[in-house]
Amino acid sequence: PRVAVVFGGRSSEHGISVVTAGAVLNAIDRDKYDVLPIGITRDGRWVRAVDDPAGMAIGGGKLPDVDRLPTQGSGKVLLPLEPTGREVLACEPGAVPEELGDVDVVFPVLHGPYGEDGTLQGMLELSGVPYVGAGVLSSAVSMDKEYMKRVFTSYGLPVGPYTVLRPREWEQDRAAARKKVVDFAGDHGWPVFVKPARAGSSMGITKVEDVTGLDEAVEEARRHDPKVLVESMLHGREIECGVLEFGDGPRASVPAEIPPPGQHDFYDFEAKYIDAAPGVIPAPLSEEQTAEVRRLAVDAFEAVSCEGLVRADFFLLDNGEYVINEVNTMPGFTPTSMYPQMWGATGVGYSELVDRLLQAALH
Ligand code: DAL
Ligand code: MG
Repeated sequence: PRVAVVFGGRSSEHGISVVTAGAVLNAIDRDKYDVLPIGITRDGRWVRAVDDPAGMAIGGGKLPDVDRLPTQGSGKVLLPLEPTGREVLACEPGAVPEELGDVDVVFPVLHGPYGEDGTLQGMLELSGVPYVGAGVLSSAVSMDKEYMKRVFTSYGLPVGPYTVLRPREWEQDRAAARKKVVDFAGDHGWPVFVKPARAGSSMGITKVEDVTGLDEAVEEARRHDPKVLVESMLHGREIECGVLEFGDGPRASVPAEIPPPGQHDFYDFEAKYIDAAPGVIPAPLSEEQTAEVRRLAVDAFEAVSCEGLVRADFFLLDNGEYVINEVNTMPGFTPTSMYPQMWGATGVGYSELVDRLLQAALH
């Protein structure tokens, strides 16, 4: 089968996506699959990349970028996606966008908005091309930290305290919006975490100690998304669990524990990718705690109607209870990322993982 590996994209997680895609390109079985690497630039142009994962790694603390990768031929634009998606909608229903080529399956190795949020998935649905991972609704819900929490709550999954600042609330009555956060912190305590509702890799997140830091934190979050979430700080251990769909349904991996943030304020971007301290796998938990987090991870996968894969992130609170922080429908996927590492420890190696995901999408 011919597989298009699509990476980069318009979100702030562009570089992480390129790193992940480099690893996926390395791991795909070339005897079995014909590979078409497609990069999406930060401004949304689709380009045919050279099939060479070298250069798609973090180098000198710097993330790679589709615009700096060699492209095939003249670096011809394949699908000049305007922010309106006009070109895509112009193709006939059921037709693969011609320039995308004849592919049997797309592996959207994309993180964040315009890739992991249901928009690309919608385009592929319209085009009738099978793809790896979650569908439109699941991707959209899982990208939006507000709706994700609402869905989890309705399924009885435990979430932490939060409040939402909608775009108009911040734009039209700043004083009332500030008061909303101060009242929230009055109930749940400082510090609070201010986050863009739809982003990833800790982009745009600030830990705020008191009201004086609030405006700056909200503006920073709004650089990523005009809708902002405020969450209270949870005291406990960070535990992650991978879920992978098998023929008979989703199964959970052994869990991992993320080490305490050390000199970092929290598990932020630098802690995740630049100074990446390895997670502890399996997480040192009791048998009951392990069983419970695996059950909750599968419940979370089902709650958002996920397909293929998900990484579910939890806090194990000091009182012994789990709270689910979020799910990621296209988690970081380099060989040293938590998701493949957890599956490695569960007996599913990296190449097998990639193959399983492609096969699941094809069938
Ligand atoms: N959003 C990043 C890639 C992750 O969840 O791993
Ligand atoms: Mg995330």
